[in-house]
Amino acid sequence: MQVVHTAADLRAALAGQTATAFVPTMGNLHAGHVSLVEQAKRHGQPVVASIFINPLQFAAGEDLERYPRTLAADCEKLEAAGCDLVFAPDVAEMYPVPQMFTVQVPDSLANDLCGAFRPGHFAGVATVVLKLFNLVRPRVAVFGRKDFQQLMVIRELVRQFNLPIEILAGATLREADGLAMSSRNGYLSAAERMQATQLYRALTEVRTAVEAGEHDYAALCANAVRHLKMAGWRVDYVEVRDADTLAPAAPGSARLVVLGAAWLGTTRLIDNLDFDLPAAARA
Ligand code: PAF
Repeated sequence: MQVVHTAADLRAALAGQTATAFVPTMGNLHAGHVSLVEQAKRHGQPVVASIFINPLQFAAGEDLERYPRTLAADCEKLEAAGCDLVFAPDVAEMYPVPQMFTVQVPDSLANDLCGAFRPGHFAGVATVVLKLFNLVRPRVAVFGRKDFQQLMVIRELVRQFNLPIEILAGATLREADGLAMSSRNGYLSAAERMQATQLYRALTEVRTAVEAGEHDYAALCANAVRHLKMAGWRVDYVEVRDADTLAPAAPGSARLVVLGAAWLGTTRLIDNLDFDLPAAARA
C-alpha cells in the first residue's frame, strides 16, 4: 500500500486508472471504516482511502482541535483491509488558497436535522468531497449509512453536478450493546460509554412502534426525547423521516428512517435506523 500526501503524487499514482473505488474518511478508523474499504474492494480497483480532517465542516467551538490524529494506526488498518493507496494531505495541500468557492447545499438538506445544529457543516462536507472526487476521480465511492443525512447530500451532489460516480452506502457497524461505531465514541468516559447505547435503544423503540402500526410519529419521538433527557442526555432531535427524501414521513411513505442526535456530556452522538414499513402499518 502506498501513502501519498500531495495531489501531484496522488495523480501520478492513479494515472490511467478508470475503475478506482474511493473511501473518504477523517481517519481515527474503526471496524466500520474497514468494512467500507472491504465493500469498495468488491466494486473497483485500486481502492483509495483519504484521511483528511476537513476544517471547513467544523463550526467554531466544535471538536476540530481534539479530533484524534492517528495516521500510523489508520494506515495499518487500511493495509490489512486491502486498501491500495492512501491520500493523506495536510490543510495547505487541500486548501492552498482560501476556499472562496463552496458548494451551496439546498436549505432543505443543509438546515435540517444535523444541519440545524451544525451551521455550514454540510456545505463544508460537500465542498471537500467535491474536491476529493476531482482529485481521485473515482468510478465508485463508499459512504457509511451512519451519516445518513451526509449520504443524502452526497447523492444529490453527484446527481445535480452530473458526476460520473456511483455512490454506495455501507452498513452501520455496531458494538455488542448496539452503539453505532464512531470515531467520537472515543471521547466518552467509561460511565458515558455504558450509557451510550440508550440512543440506539430509543431509536429502536420508535421503529418498533412504527412497524407495529403506530401513526403518531411526533408523539413517539417526543416520548423518546423525554426518556433520553430523563437519563441525562441533551437531545438535538429524534425524528421519523421518509428514507428516500428525508422529508417528514408522509402517509404512504414506504421506507422510513428514525434519526437521532444527542449529547452525552461534551460528546455529540448520532444514529439512525432505516427500514421498510410493512404495508399493514402504513398510514
Ligand atoms: O464522514 C466523514 O468522515 C467526512 O464527513 C467526510 C465524508 C470524509 C468528508 O470530510
